[in-house]
Amino acid sequence: MERTAATTARRSRLRHIALAAIAPWVAACTEPRADHPTAPLRAPARLADTGLYADIAARRIAEGVHTYSPQYPLWSDGASKERWIRLPPGTAIDGTDPDHWVFPIGTKFWKEFRFERAVETRFLQRCDDGSWLYATYRWNEDGSDAVLAPECGVRGVCETSETKRHDLPSVADCRACHEGTRTPVLGFSALQLAPERDPLAPHAEEREAGDLDLLSLIERGLLRNYGAERTPRIAGSSARERAALGYLHGNCASCHNESGPLQRLGMRLDHPLDCASPPALDTTVGVPSAFQRPGLTQRIAPGEPDRSVLLQRLAASDALAQMPPFGRHLVDREAAALLRDWIEHDLSPRRP
Ligand code: HEC
Ligand code: HEC
Repeated sequence: MERTAATTARRSRLRHIALAAIAPWVAACTEPRADHPTAPLRAPARLADTGLYADIAARRIAEGVHTYSPQYPLWSDGASKERWIRLPPGTAIDGTDPDHWVFPIGTKFWKEFRFERAVETRFLQRCDDGSWLYATYRWNEDGSDAVLAPECGVRGVCETSETKRHDLPSVADCRACHEGTRTPVLGFSALQLAPERDPLAPHAEEREAGDLDLLSLIERGLLRNYGAERTPRIAGSSARERAALGYLHGNCASCHNESGPLQRLGMRLDHPLDCASPPALDTTVGVPSAFQRPGLTQRIAPGEPDRSVLLQRLAASDALAQMPPFGRHLVDREAAALLRDWIEHDLSPRRP
């Protein structure tokens, strides 16, 4: 079932108004931002013209395009994903700030979503003026071609469960997730590309031969000014805590961080390298929720998963309560179970 663009736009407006009524931060989260200007370029009409493929029919990837896989991937209703990056020849990423790499003008990223078949390929490109272009391409059913989706997205392109379908996000939704922090690139960072990967990370993907990681980036001269001695590893008090903090970083930190429009909420789920104490613990464990409800007063109540707002919102699937607020319809049960165990077993003795 497909809806018209007008219906989609109306539903998206209504959702933003409803969210804004309960939280003034939402408006800031979805409005265009001065520090992330709108791209002057228009996206090509076909995926074939973005430079990903040498031959789209044969799915042959173009020269100079590399695969990679972040160790803490985003949950998207169980979609399997493939990702690529292309840096303009002769350029390199600047890693001076280990948490916020700066990408050369002309950098391109692609991310393909599959539910049984390829459904969409998302595209990011750094334009000449430094801004980023967002687009997504919808694959036809036989997988022979993918064309640019409308800016307002497309609802319900394929089934993801008995009752839910996958939506192609609007450009406003891309920007709400990608522009809540200093760099719009979310899954290509030192922590995400660490050579020593977290064995408990939910939905960890197999690394394929040829995938770029932190070491190969440095070896090939594609990353400069990054302190190579730095080990990008989350130092949790247990293996479970490491994976829980990594999951929150990968799935939530694009909005919940120290610099974006939600900073006034005072809850950080990002995990900066070299931090003395993880902000995701300092701003959640035993910390009062901004939206108090009977029995649910703390973001994380140590030892009490059922009284922890953060877990409730991660495990919710109604539009007003669920986190992230868009980008999924189905609950990530593996992550919810991990967070539950962590809150119940690892937090109680340590943080009374
Ligand atoms: C719910 C939040 C969310 C929405 C909505 C979203 N993204 Fe992303 N996107 C992410 C996260 C988190 C990652 C990194 C993790 C991963 O790849 O699994 C990512 C990764 C990507 C990548 C790979 C480069 C990178 O930043 O790591 C591309 C390309 C991309 N997204 C494009 C888009 C486009 C285009 C849209 C809109 C059509 C969009 N995304 C909508 C959260 C989102
Ligand atoms: C696209 C941006 C975005 C992403 C991604 C996101 N959130 Fe949120 N979050 C918000 C906004 C906006 C609010 C405030 C409005 C509200 O409560 O719905 C919020 C509020 C919250 C709150 C309430 C804070 C309090 O004091 O009680 C929690 C808990 C939360 N988010 C957890 C998460 C978790 C966990 C994730 C990842 C699984 C996540 N969020 C991902 C935008 C986001």
